[in-house]
Amino acid sequence: MQYDVILPAAGSGKRMAAGCNKLFLELRQKPILIHTLEVFQQDDACKGIWLAVKPEERSYIESLLVKYNITKVKALSDGGAERQYSVNACVKKVKDRDIVLVHDAARPFITIPIIHKLAEVAHSKGAAIAGVRAKDTMKRVKDGMIEETVDRSSLWMIQTPQAFDFEVLKRAEQLAERDHFLGTDEAMLVERMGHSVYIVESSYENVKITTKEDLVFGEAILSQRIGG
Ligand code: C5P
Repeated sequence: MQYDVILPAAGSGKRMAAGCNKLFLELRQKPILIHTLEVFQQDDACKGIWLAVKPEERSYIESLLVKYNITKVKALSDGGAERQYSVNACVKKVKDRDIVLVHDAARPFITIPIIHKLAEVAHSKGAAIAGVRAKDTMKRVKDGMIEETVDRSSLWMIQTPQAFDFEVLKRAEQLAERDHFLGTDEAMLVERMGHSVYIVESSYENVKITTKEDLVFGEAILSQRIGG
């Protein structure tokens, strides 16, 4: 199943406190952004990559694309103040596509089998998102006190990629923009249209690099995958 992917890369990474876009930090001497891009560059089913970037980082990112021979990028769009606006800027540029995935550029450990499963389910059902089952006991807390223990069996922790029939994603983005609705992920925009969204079981390794500890975790994942 062929697909295109939108990669929002225009965040500021405040929780990393790196003093620069966290995507430029390196794991094994390679920027996190490039690790993520290489997954899609190497996947034959991926036909195009659509990047959202900060205007002031555009030329540096363009230089990275040349240096690491990332050839599938179709367009760089100016990101917005919120992740949803960055994704929407890319959605507006994509034309006549069948399946489009949205994936955080800060999740470099996604694997091709999960991507393909998502694209397949999006093709048959319209919308599919990656997630993992909650591992810990879950409780609802208010004012420092437990209100209830939540039944964990139906709880999933949601990741990206999130994969869509492009018409469904485009419509969801248009309606969110019209209504000034800000969601926490693309699926939420699709859910509010009344469209069903399906879950694809992903991996706990598909972390979003967010804080300094995640860099240690990232190095460990790479050591296990490629040795050394
Ligand atoms: O900040 P966080 O890691 O949750 O952001 C997830 C992804 O969305 C990152 O790849 C980040 O670069 C991107 N993002 C964006 N525009 C924003 C905020 C985040 O493209 N305004």
